[in-house]
Amino acid sequence: MNIIKVKNYKELSMQAAGIVAAQISRKKNTVLGLPTGQTPLGMYQELIKRFRKGEIDFSQVITFNLDEYYGLSPEHPQSYNYYMWQTFFNNINIKKENVFIPDGVTKDVQKECRYYESLIEKKGGIDLQFLGIGDNGHIGFNEPAIALNSKTHLVNLSQATIEANSRFFNDIEDVPRKALTMGMGTIMKAKQIILLASGMKKAPAIAKTINGKVNTEVPASLLQLHRDVTIIVDKDAARDV
Ligand code: PGA
Repeated sequence: MNIIKVKNYKELSMQAAGIVAAQISRKKNTVLGLPTGQTPLGMYQELIKRFRKGEIDFSQVITFNLDEYYGLSPEHPQSYNYYMWQTFFNNINIKKENVFIPDGVTKDVQKECRYYESLIEKKGGIDLQFLGIGDNGHIGFNEPAIALNSKTHLVNLSQATIEANSRFFNDIEDVPRKALTMGMGTIMKAKQIILLASGMKKAPAIAKTINGKVNTEVPASLLQLHRDVTIIVDKDAARDV
């Protein structure tokens, strides 16, 4: 694991955006794996800035999102589909047909999950996968458990995640209890992985991810087995490392 410690959130976002820009200039039709949540917002903002300055061209870039709430349609303001278009895609020149996000209102979950996996394969696999990390060590929505799913699947969100994500909803009762998420195998197949973590609340999970034993109760610890992982952490998140 390559660990980059930065001063603060701004620097984390700049570093992350720089990695995306360099990757796209090397390979115009890069396949990106993208997260939602609070952590990547600064990176998306910085990428939009660089796009507006003419420094990045997203016209051939392909993206796959990590996850989507089950039961929320793309128009729902709390859906990850909505988040991605509002915070990022509407502000760059990505083509709609190159954006892939699991369908949270699919009628056939099994089929949707198989389809998502096969699409990733068909597009040549993920070149660069970005991840956030839950306070509980989850990546995507792969929650701590005695066993983890390899492929894209429907997952029951843990109480910790429901509570953590309730900050984005009016009421905790509104937080969906299930989500579609890439599996650990889907994530581990990416050629390169960048995990971003900022703030004191992430410090225990980051310490376990980097220095703990590889175990499914800390899903991010499995990243120790991948040969090209970079963790970008600010001072607060790196407190216990
Ligand atoms: P956050 O979420 O970026 O909003 O902290 C990360 C996650 O839960 O994976």
